[in-house]
This record gives sequence, structure tokens and C-alpha cells, in this order.
Amino acid sequence: MTKRSAGLSNSLPPLLVAAAVVMTTGTARHIVVAQAATTTAALEPGELLPGGEATTRGSTDHHDAFSRFSNGMGFAGEARFKLGNAIFRKQWVSAPSSTRSSDGLGPLYNARACQNCHLKDGRGHTPGANEPAASMFLRLSVPPRTAEEKALLASHRVNVIAEPTYGGQLQNFAIQGHTPEGQMQISYRDMPVTLGDGSIVTLRAPTYSVAEPGYGPLAADVMLSPRVAPQMIGLGLIEAVPEATIRTFADPGDKDGDGISGRANEVWSRVTNGVALGRFGWKAGNPSIRQQSADAFNGDMGLSTSLFARPSGDCTKAEEACLTAPNGNSPKPTDPEVSDQLLDLVTFYAQNLAVPLRRDADSDDVLRGKQTFAVIGCIACHRPSMTTGDVPDQPHLSGQKIWPYSDLLLHDMGEGLADHRPEGVASGTEWRTAPLWGIGLTHIVSGHSELLHDGRARTVEEAILWHGGEASAAREAYAALSKAEREALIAFVNSL
Ligand code: HEC
Ligand code: HEC
Repeated sequence: MTKRSAGLSNSLPPLLVAAAVVMTTGTARHIVVAQAATTTAALEPGELLPGGEATTRGSTDHHDAFSRFSNGMGFAGEARFKLGNAIFRKQWVSAPSSTRSSDGLGPLYNARACQNCHLKDGRGHTPGANEPAASMFLRLSVPPRTAEEKALLASHRVNVIAEPTYGGQLQNFAIQGHTPEGQMQISYRDMPVTLGDGSIVTLRAPTYSVAEPGYGPLAADVMLSPRVAPQMIGLGLIEAVPEATIRTFADPGDKDGDGISGRANEVWSRVTNGVALGRFGWKAGNPSIRQQSADAFNGDMGLSTSLFARPSGDCTKAEEACLTAPNGNSPKPTDPEVSDQLLDLVTFYAQNLAVPLRRDADSDDVLRGKQTFAVIGCIACHRPSMTTGDVPDQPHLSGQKIWPYSDLLLHDMGEGLADHRPEGVASGTEWRTAPLWGIGLTHIVSGHSELLHDGRARTVEEAILWHGGEASAAREAYAALSKAEREALIAFVNSL
């Protein structure tokens, strides 16, 4: 039995041991005991308010369940939130335009508004057949080639070396008169998986490529990383967890021998001009909501801010027409297309999209599933709770016990999920533990339940079965559960 489950199983009668799976993870051989939680876990204090006092009490059966503001912000906060919402929804246009405050889009871009990707403040989705990708894109980079590039990466000043012709991501749209960079192509292959009780789940395994490259061939050693826009709830609370707290969750050398390490990403903060803990994005490549938002304005929409000054966004020297096109910097050429005032508002908005209430948290099934979630080791990464620190000016986000179900750290998830594209400290097989709060509302908000960084999983069960690497033991334990136990576990996940 792994050390991880030992503590918990000690408190359970031995009768609960239902199945044993022997498996190999890396070099170490683990025997995982999957246990049927025939007892139920109890509700813990505070669990019903996953975002602490900032949890919205708004209804959870409506498609705007992720669009509500933090509880306790006060009238001034609500007014700011509404202004920020308008910036989040603003459809930018190309320069020059008569609406000077909305121009500067592109020339190359992925979307015209934040909201077009973070649909209803929820997650994006994979494109339908013959549709261009709209809320998902490919990140691009190449391995470092020179000593300078290696030193730059080692300094953490950049996370990646951008693809020389196409830059850091593939912009599949362009304003009039310009050529888009190309189209992301996905092909899926069916991959049947047999569970312990003989039932079969068919996963879809994706392969990615770039079609219609607009500026010549991509580098032969280009690395592609598909990313779906994530859900936007609870981000200010995640930002408010002290760096020191998250670092205590890390166990990079797996000193406790549970097969699970957990590493911090170290990235450059353009706000503090120094190295900081990465916590946003699927590989924790971004240190703050402000920087992530400015990065999105620049990379996704081709708009400049004080943090990312280039009005041509992610264009490279090889894309000359893009570099020399008119831009929206005004009235002085040094003024960014998106002013600090607008960046402040959109940052505040993204910080205060509230976490909704739990649903059915005290039903028998959910409590049984909660027990199994702990016993089979999901909590080793999907850490249930932590406490936020002090947020100057935002007392409603400060000192809250929150339930994100994530340690916010990087884990090796195995070959199946690997993009083989390192980002900062994150390796080609590592991903940040995805917070699970709100996940059960995905189908209500988004009308689908596509999960994981590239939306390949169509259900919670498929997402679990894609887990590998450090999560192999938990995945095997899940696959060994009875149907009723699997359903209870999924009911718990959907209650978050
Ligand atoms: C073209 C689609 C697209 C657009 C437009 C877009 N985003 Fe995103 N957003 C993403 C993707 C994809 C990620 C994940 C990035 C990664 O993994 O590196 C993301 C991540 C984020 C995150 C971090 C969320 C988390 O859980 O870590 C924030 C905050 C965010 N975006 C804010 C914004 C804001 C603000 C705007 C508008 C200025 C915006 N985004 C526009 C696709 C988009
Ligand atoms: C070793 C750490 C680890 C363990 C153990 C683990 N997970 Fe995860 N989980 C992750 C990471 C990392 C991701 C994001 C992977 C990706 O997007 O490619 C993730 C993603 C998910 C998602 C999809 C979330 C989303 O927003 O798309 C679900 C659902 C999930 N895990 C459930 C579980 C359950 C249930 C268990 C126990 C059977 C479990 N996980 C065990 C690390 C872990």
C-alpha cells in the first residue's frame, strides 16, 4: 500500500479493502489497494462555501453561474466589476478606426474579445468539424539552440524560445489585408480502455498539426501545445494564496516516497521585475492575473499594454507586414492600445468572478465519493482546502478558507497527456493540477463537458482515465472500483 493512503486507511475497518492492483510506476513498484468507501465522509466546516465568504450565493442552475461577482465587495466593487465586464466583452477592431478606444486588434489574432474564448466566463471547447478553432489555440516554441538562449531560459526571464517565424502561438485569424498564420488541425483516434469490472470506456487520443501555414514552413523541431481557455472562477482567491503556502505543498524529490512530487513553476513577473511562483495557465506559466491578462491582450488579440508594449503582439521579424501595419497606440505613439486603467478593470473583473455554492454536498453518494476521492489518492494533488493571505484593498478575498481542490503545483502526468513542450520549469509531461471547483457546472455554463488542457476528455471519467505519471496509482485505483463506487466518486466531483 502506498504511504499516501496508509494514514486514511488506518481509520477504516479492514473489511473495506475491495480490490488490489499491482502496477509499475517509473522504476518503483507500488502495490495500490483500491478501497470501496462503504462508509461515508462527513461534511467539513466551510466546505459548502468553496470560495469562503467570497462565494456567490447566486443560483447554480443557470448558464451565468460563473459570471457572478465575489460576495462582500460592496457597491464600489460591484461598479468596478461591471466596468471590467464591459472590457472583458469588448470586441476590438483593427486600427485606424473611428472608435479609437477600441482599435488596435491584430494584425494577427486568435479572438476579438476575452469573452469569445472564456465563453460565459467558463471554459472554451474544441472546434467542431470544419470549424476554425475559436476558444482554443496552439502554443509554439523550439528548443534553445544557442548558449544565449539557454542562459535566457535559465534566468527565467522567458518561459520558452518562440518559434522563429510564427512566435509563441499560432494566430489563426488576421485583419483585412493580412494573412493568418495557419489553422490548428486535430485528428482523434479511438482508444478503448478496459476497467476492472470489464466495462469499456473509449477515449479519444488527439494528434495536432498546423495546416495552411501562411509564412512558410514551421521550424522542423517546433513543439506544439494545445490549450483550451480555462474557466475563470475563483482566480483572485488563487492569487491570494501566499507563495510560501503553495511552496510547502511541493515535494520535488518525492521525499515522502508516495510517488507524487509536485513542483513549483518559476516564471518572470513583469509586475515586480523578478522571478515569481507561476500559478496561472495549464502549466502555471504566469505569475499573476494582471500579467496573464496583459499577455492575453498581446498574444491572443495583438494589443499592447504597459506590460507587453508591442502593438503588433506576437508577430516576428519574418512577418513584416504585421510589424509595419498601422496600430492603435494613441494619442502618443508610446501610449499602449490598452491603457492601465482598462488593464486594472479587466484584472479586477477576473479576480472577482466568484466561485458558486456546492450542490448536493451532503447526499449519501457524494459523501461516499468524497471518501473514495481521499482514499485512492486524488487529494494528493487535488488538495481540498487552503487559506488565502491578505489582499490589500480587497478584504473580501483575504483570510478565506477556500476549497479549490488543487495544490497549484506541477505534476508529471505521463506520456498520454504530454505535450513535450517545456514551459519555464515545467517539463513536457508536467501540468498544473487543475482546480476542480465549479467543474460540475461545466455543462450548464458551457453546454458541454470537455475537460483537460485540450478538451480531449468528454466526461469526468475520461479525464480521470487520461491521468498517468505521478497519478498512475490513483488512476489504477479508480479503474479497479466497482461501478457504484465510480459513480459515487464522479457524483462527488460533479458536486464541486
Ligand atoms: C484566444 C482565446 C483566449 C482569449 C481571447 C483570452 N484568453 Fe485567457 N486564456 C486562454 C487560454 C488558452 C488560457 C490558458 C493559457 C495557458 O495555459 O498558457 C487562458 C488563461 C487565462 C487566465 C488564467 C486562468 C487560470 O485558471 O489559470 C486568465 C486570468 C485569463 N486567461 C484572462 C484573460 C483575459 C483578461 C482576456 C482578455 C484580455 C483573455 N484571457 C483572453 C485563452 C484566451
Ligand atoms: C499526480 C497529481 C494528480 C492526481 C493524483 C490526480 N490528479 Fe486530477 N489532475 C491533475 C492534473 C495535473 C490535471 C490537469 C491535466 C491536464 O489538463 O492535462 C488534472 C485534471 C483533472 C480533471 C480535469 C479538470 C479540468 O478542469 O479539466 C479531473 C476531473 C480530475 N483531474 C480528477 C481527478 C480524480 C478524480 C483523481 C483521483 C482518481 C485525480 N484527478 C488524481 C493532477 C492529478
